[in-house]
Amino acid sequence: MKRRDFILNSCGACIGVGAFAGFITSCGAMKNVPGKLNNDGLLLNASDFEKQRDGKISYHPYIVVRNEELQFPICVYRFSATDYSALWMQCAHQGAEVQVSGAYLQCPAHGSEYDNRGRVTNGPAVRDLRTFPVVVTNNQLFIDLRKK
Ligand code: FES
Repeated sequence: MKRRDFILNSCGACIGVGAFAGFITSCGAMKNVPGKLNNDGLLLNASDFEKQRDGKISYHPYIVVRNEELQFPICVYRFSATDYSALWMQCAHQGAEVQVSGAYLQCPAHGSEYDNRGRVTNGPAVRDLRTFPVVVTNNQLFIDLRKK
């Protein structure tokens, strides 16, 4: 193979791998919303989880609520129209912000992992993430920040 052909083929492969990696990461279900804070908690619309494609509605498995009034984001997982979990994204080990990756959350500081209900699955953390009750009424979610 000539040097020029090698470079063209190699670059083509790199671009293909890069594009594929970008496609994979852009396929992620990550969606950020600000939510609406009131005195007792946070309001979200159930429709915030919806995504439409080709006239069909599907659902993000989770959304991340980032609001400047909150010290940490809250990850809200949708299990069904009436079943959600709301997880405070502060690691129970030493307080770093955890990152969402599909059905689990991982701490970049020392590697603790949690499932989508906030239960610790891998240390060094020994406690679960802080969670909040979620009440669904008229297609609106109320995340009660008063209770643990
Ligand atoms: S702060 Fe998260 S694992 Fe240490």
